[in-house]
Parts: sequence; C-alpha cells; structure tokens
Amino acid sequence: MSQSIDHLLTENRRFAPSPEFAAKAVAGSDLYDAARADRLAFWGDQSRELLHWHTPFTEVLDWSTPPFAKWFPDGELNVAYNCLDRHVEEGNGDRVAIHFEGEPGDSRSVTYAELTDEVKRLANVLTDLGVGQGDRVAIYLPMIPEAIASLLAVARLGAIHSVVFGGFSADSLRSRIDDAGAKVVITADGGYRKGRASALKPAVDQALSDRGEGVQATVESVLVVRRTGQDVEWQDGRDVWYHDVVPQAAAEHEAQPFPAENPLFILYTSGTTGKPKGILHTSGGYLTQAAFTHRNVFDLHPETDVYWCTADIGWITGHSYVTYGPLANGATQVLYEGTPEFPEPGRWWDVAEKYGVTILYTAPTAVRSFMKQGREIVQKRDLSKIRLLGSVGEPINPEAWMWFREVVGGDVAPIVDTWWQTETGAIMISALPGVTETKPGSAQVPLPGVAIDVVDEKGESVGNDAGGLLVVTEPWPSMLRGIWGDPERFVDTYWKMFADKGYYFAGDGARRDEDGDIWLLGRVDDVMNVSGHRLSTAEIESSLVAHAATAEAAVVGASDETTGQAVVAFVILKESFLKSNTADGLATELRQWVGQQIGPIARPRDVYIVGELPKTRSGKIMRRLLRDVAEGREVGDTQTLADTAVMSVITAQVR
Ligand code: PRX
Repeated sequence: MSQSIDHLLTENRRFAPSPEFAAKAVAGSDLYDAARADRLAFWGDQSRELLHWHTPFTEVLDWSTPPFAKWFPDGELNVAYNCLDRHVEEGNGDRVAIHFEGEPGDSRSVTYAELTDEVKRLANVLTDLGVGQGDRVAIYLPMIPEAIASLLAVARLGAIHSVVFGGFSADSLRSRIDDAGAKVVITADGGYRKGRASALKPAVDQALSDRGEGVQATVESVLVVRRTGQDVEWQDGRDVWYHDVVPQAAAEHEAQPFPAENPLFILYTSGTTGKPKGILHTSGGYLTQAAFTHRNVFDLHPETDVYWCTADIGWITGHSYVTYGPLANGATQVLYEGTPEFPEPGRWWDVAEKYGVTILYTAPTAVRSFMKQGREIVQKRDLSKIRLLGSVGEPINPEAWMWFREVVGGDVAPIVDTWWQTETGAIMISALPGVTETKPGSAQVPLPGVAIDVVDEKGESVGNDAGGLLVVTEPWPSMLRGIWGDPERFVDTYWKMFADKGYYFAGDGARRDEDGDIWLLGRVDDVMNVSGHRLSTAEIESSLVAHAATAEAAVVGASDETTGQAVVAFVILKESFLKSNTADGLATELRQWVGQQIGPIARPRDVYIVGELPKTRSGKIMRRLLRDVAEGREVGDTQTLADTAVMSVITAQVR
C-alpha cells in the first residue's frame, strides 16, 4: 500500500473548471458557505427546495438516540409523487424520463406522463395483491423500464422494496426473500445478456420451492414481466403476468403521504461475515441527499441534459442515481439493458451517440477495460455532447482518469470521482464540477453538509499529508437507518469502533494530501471490491466449504488490472476426493460452484488446491500472507505462524 501512496502523491496534474463551465454551473461555492454557517439549516433548505412535502417538517434532525437518526421527523411526503406526478403537474409530462435501449437493439422512450401512468396502475395491482405500507416486495428484474416502475410503485404505497441483482443465484435470492419476509416478488421471464436470453423466472421458482427447514414461506404472489418470451413454468394462483394486469388496472391512484422516516428500501450488501446485511434506508432524508447530490455533483440541467448512469438497478448506484436522484430532479436518462461489448466493443459508445448523452456516470473497471481495447473504438463515435464524467465504486487510478478525460471527455469534461457506499445512500465525497480544481485519482472533498475525517485508531484526526481510517463525524440525511432485523449488528459494525466520539466508521482506509484532499486506499476489513462490487471473503469461503469436496477454504482479494481486485481462493480438499479427481478438475468445479451459489461475479479468478493454510497459534487464518502469494510477491513476516514452514509449501504448490 505504501508504494501506491507514494505514487499517488507525486500526482501534480490539476484541472480547474473552465470559465464557461463555471459560469453555467448549478453548484457554486456558496453551498459550502451555507453548510458551514449552519449545517442543519442547510439540509432543511435543500430539502424544501428539492422536494415536495405533503406535510412540511418543523425539525431537521432528531439525534437524541444515536446512532438511530430521524431526519425531518415530523414531515410527510410521498417518494413516488416527488419522482413522477409533480413533474407532470408542473407541465413536464412530455419530457422523456427514460430512453430505454434493449440489448437486442429494441428501444423505446418513456415520458414522465407515461411513467406516472404505469406506476399508478402498477400501484393498484400491488394493492390488489395485498401490498400495503411496510410490506416487503422483492424485485428481481433486468434493466428495463418496468424495473424502475416497480421500485416507484412499491414506494408509492409506502411499502419497502428489496432489489436483488439479476446476476445473483437462486440461493442468494432465497436468503434475501426470507430475511426480508417478502410478500410479493416482481420478476421477468428473463433478460438479454451477451446476445442471449438469460432466464430469471426459474431462479425465482427454485428460490420459492426448496426452502430451509423452519423457514416460513412468505411470498403470496409473483408478478412476471414478459421480456424475452422464453418458456416459463407457471404456478396458478401465485404467478401473474404483468401484461395481463397492469394495462387493465385502474389509471387513477392518488399518492398518500407517509412519514419522512417510513422505510423505503432494504438493499443487501456484503460485510465481514458470511451473512449479507440488509441495509435499511428511509424516505425523506434519503431522497433529499439523492436529489441534492444528483443535481449538484452532476451539474444537472434537466431541460437539456441526457444523463446516463451505467449501474445496474441491483446495486445502490442503481437506486440513488438511476431511480431516485434523477427522477426526483426530472432528468432525462438512458437505460441500457445489456453488456458494454455486445454485439461489439463499441456498443456503449453507440448508445451514448444515439441519445446524445451529456453526463456519463460509470465505474473505473469499465474505463480500464475500454483502455485495453484502445481509444479508436471510442473515437469512431461522436461523443462531442459529453460535458461531464463521473466515476464510482473504487479508486480510479490516475492513468485511467486521464484516459477517461481525454478520450471520452474530449479533454474538456470535468471528472467527478464520487466516494460513497450502500450504507451512506448517496455521494459523500466528490468535487463540485464548477468549483473544484480536480486531481486525477483523488475523490477530494466532502460535499457541503457532509462531515468527514481521516483518523488514527484512537479517533484522532491525522491531519494533512497522513493516512488513516475514513470516518463520518456527523449524521447525514441519507445515512442507513439500520440493518434489517439486526440493530445490534448495525451498532457493532459501524459505530462501535469510535463509540466515544460517535463517528461512523466506513471500513475504508484513506489519506489526506498536503492540500487536505482525500485519497481512498481501499477496504481495511475482509471485504473485497471486484469491479466496484462488494464481496465478502467470508461469504465466498462459506460457499466453498459447502461443496462436498472441500475441507477448508480461505479467500483473499488480489490486485487485478481490470477488475481492481479479483477473488483468489486457497482450498484444502478432502482426501477421498483427491483420490478420484484431479486437482485441476476440482478447481474448475469449485469456481463454477461459487458462481452458481452466489452469482458469476463471485466466481474466483484462481482456485489453488493446497495441503495446508497459514494459521496463527490461535487458529486464525493469516490472509495477509495468502495475499502475498496471490499477488506473486515475496511472502511477508511469518513469525506468528503456528508452523512457519507452511508458507514455503504453499508458495511452491502455487508456483
Ligand atoms: O471501498 C469503497 C468503494 O466501494 C465501497 C462501497 O461499496 P458499495 O456499498 O458496493 O457501493 C459502491 C457504490 C457507491 C466503499 O467502502 N468505493 C466506492 N466509491 C469509491 C470507492 N473507493 C474509492 N473511490 C470511490 N469513488
């Protein structure tokens, strides 16, 4: 890590906003002044300005029982009304909300009026299926307009959605449905990926059929969107075609107000144990910060911009910056179903050119894979409308940053490198594009109204030109409100480390440079970041040991040129299996196994079959040493190992 810090600190390129950009920029430095003068009043003002409150709030923050925050506690609003109806009422019903581009090349544009109509009908359907305030609805869909409509229809009813990424397996889906106690599942027959119809409904059927002993089945209905037309199994009385009920449903649906702290969604994310955490977000504070950041960080001019965030709806970025932020702000956006390289590597740039995208928000892993393919692919398309670029999910290395700016941004578009998490709900650290002089590789500065520090283990600020742990020192509007069903884990995971100071610990290491700008340095816990997606070592280990052949497993994240980190597994096999199988065959089988159990993103890049794992005398696996092996480095200090010879054996086996 120290080598990469040294490298980063030699970065001295700076890009000030152009005078033309700054002159028209949505956000000015006055935002910092206002937030500094009175942080809570600032958030109150932003919320009133950006949202419609059915019942205005009189208090901004109730922090009387930390870490359980209540933002705008006595206000009432309807999240879907804010994202839909009010734009229509304000005369913007004809504005396109979504330019949808399917992977096979089908496309349609959906206006705010049309989307509002669809969501009202869908809300009526869900009501008929028994969904009301506080009920949970699981959503397992491809990137199609119905996915966005589904989130909004659930929100409209004051119910809670739990979106499960379409790339997750039936097992992952099942555990999320059960943990949340979902009443309804919204899915599709399938979606298109890499030129093929990839099925979704069978995973739902499987998730709902073989449940664990003692787990109560909660799902009453499955609403199925027809996307690919492939054959599906059907359970009468449970399964309902979306197209059979939604267009026929009543068009009228009045959005009711709900308290600001009404839960909006649960989104599962990986932590340091094998069990995913259901991160809980609520309504008023979440929508305030999603809308505020979307407008100011992306410099959104809703009348003229065409915004495209490439994230899937299954991740937090798809919640805050495909659904709630853009729609609350009345933005026009592109929604693309498929993969960047189908039918050929230039597909993304064709889409960007076709719709005249002006703002592009994506992940460093995508930028790095485009870099590998060469700039010609991008340069063949007309991307001259692009005027702002955003990056999220992992640190963007200065090289990729420069390439992104030069090749995609025509050497002029500012880049905002946005740091945040599923837990923070919205962007926390980022440049403001018309204000900040940007630095390749650094996420830079906390947003107005957000209080961030880099501290040592005791919680003392490290100051400039030093590294430490990233913390949030004051509550923020879109902060997680808890872990679904597990308040203790919420307190332990995020608030215990600096309990005396009341700081939120983010799990990331960071460094402040001599100007005070923040550089993110990756996770300090056992969470990996693969292509900007969080995976836990423990989760993959428990999947590996669930295979009959595995005796023991240890998983580490190793640096990878394209994906940032890659999953590397070290596995001890049961003797009986080694006799009848080759190690190579079993390694392949285990890779596939993890892919099936969790999802293809969790599939290890490498599986090494080893005879032993390095452990301390107390039996703790020393992942640090395995990481050295996985990255081909010299193995570090082995003195605390119970058996110091074990590392040379492992290194020899791996080579
Ligand atoms: O390690 C940080 C990294 O992604 C983690 C959060 O992952 P997730 O909850 O899946 O949300 C990803 C999308 C917001 C963080 O703890 N991370 C996210 N953005 C950045 C980042 N690391 C460096 N720079 C970023 N801009």
